[in-house]
Amino acid sequence: MSGLSASPASSPVTGGGNVPRHVAIIMDGNGRWAKRRFLPRIAGHRAGAEAVRTVVRAARDMGVQALTLYAFSSENWRRSTEEVSDLMGLLKLYLRREIRELNSENVRLRTIGDLSGLGKDLVALAQEGVEATKNNTGLNFVLALNYGAQDEMLRAVRDIASQVAAGTLSPADIDHASIETRLDTRDLPPLDLLIRTSGERRLSNFLLWQAAYAELLFVDTLWPDFDRKALADALSDYGTRERRFGGR
Ligand code: FPP
Repeated sequence: MSGLSASPASSPVTGGGNVPRHVAIIMDGNGRWAKRRFLPRIAGHRAGAEAVRTVVRAARDMGVQALTLYAFSSENWRRSTEEVSDLMGLLKLYLRREIRELNSENVRLRTIGDLSGLGKDLVALAQEGVEATKNNTGLNFVLALNYGAQDEMLRAVRDIASQVAAGTLSPADIDHASIETRLDTRDLPPLDLLIRTSGERRLSNFLLWQAAYAELLFVDTLWPDFDRKALADALSDYGTRERRFGGR
């Protein structure tokens, strides 16, 4: 397992300050962006997908090690059938179009979430992308698909319980690492910065365990308008934060 424990060390960046190793974003506000333009919601999601392209490249250029984007939550199934189908279509289109370029930019695609609940063709595309980019050493670009933090923790707890029932794990040996090594994020650096766009101030079941000591940043920008400068501003805000991890 790599570097999961919270630690104050961040990778240095030229010009001083610290670059967060792992940035996660709740990409909110696509619908409002579209509404303001008298456009259908799907137009907002399409513009959101463009912002994803921009921000992935920007994160790579800025030296972020992992960028996790909340693309489809386990609760998003509650949206209309039409919107769910639009979002699935957009995710497939994005994966079909982007993998080659991500690969040429040394970006490694990964996923978190319960892929078993998604359509076969989307899963196949995501797995192809993960496989095609698995040897890349640059930015880890993590798509949260059918992801919910409570569901992620439930899966970890079930795994622990089944090992206890099988007699291969003693309850006394269960510790933080027993949970962390079973989370979808087990191979990623600790979460340093969690951003939510569009002015809402909620975590919406995103990376709840991992956010224990993360810095939180809520910005008013709607996701489709979140660009390279917005990410740079977020990273420089992070650079001013004093992280104590419960100490003084
Ligand atoms: C929230 O905006 C956004 C989502 C539920 C989905 C995020 C999806 C994308 C950015 C596009 C596709 C993603 C990729 C990776 C290509 P909202 O619809 O809740 O906005 P609102 O709160 O203004 O209605």
